[in-house]
Amino acid sequence: MFDFAPTHTATPKPELYRELVSAALALTESEPDGVANMANLAALMWTYLPDLNWAGFYRLAPGAGELVLGPFIGKPACIRIPLGSGVCGTAAATAQSQCVADVHAFPGHIACDAASRSELVVPVTAGDRVIAVIDLDSPRAGRFDADDTAGIEALACAISTRIGT
Ligand code: SME
Repeated sequence: MFDFAPTHTATPKPELYRELVSAALALTESEPDGVANMANLAALMWTYLPDLNWAGFYRLAPGAGELVLGPFIGKPACIRIPLGSGVCGTAAATAQSQCVADVHAFPGHIACDAASRSELVVPVTAGDRVIAVIDLDSPRAGRFDADDTAGIEALACAISTRIGT
């Protein structure tokens, strides 16, 4: 049994993300299957990060023009997202994290769960190529800030070599 969990519910965000990255590396270190690792990483983000209603991955195959849904926790979601569309497609097309305080104010936002109010999407890169994005949704407006962005970027960097298929 795995028993990864934050040490304390009131842990400051930078420390919480250091714990999350450490747990992610430990959980994926001896498993070569990228889908299995993404599934466990989605569960880990769900366990460590409060106020989420969706947490998971979209993948981008080499040369593909669209993201494809990967392992996640939450309601069933749109399966394919063209590059440049919505928050996920924008993050993938620009290779830049998108921290959206109010999804209703984001042009082209794709609603997969009507409860979502804010969203953080971080690209996962291998060299200079985007291979996936990590997507977090929250029912609370303004749920994500610069600490969350830096924390998920650190996670994306740490697990980049562990989610290949
Ligand atoms: N809201 C995303 C779509 C994915 S779901 O949130 C799971 C977007 O605008 O790209």
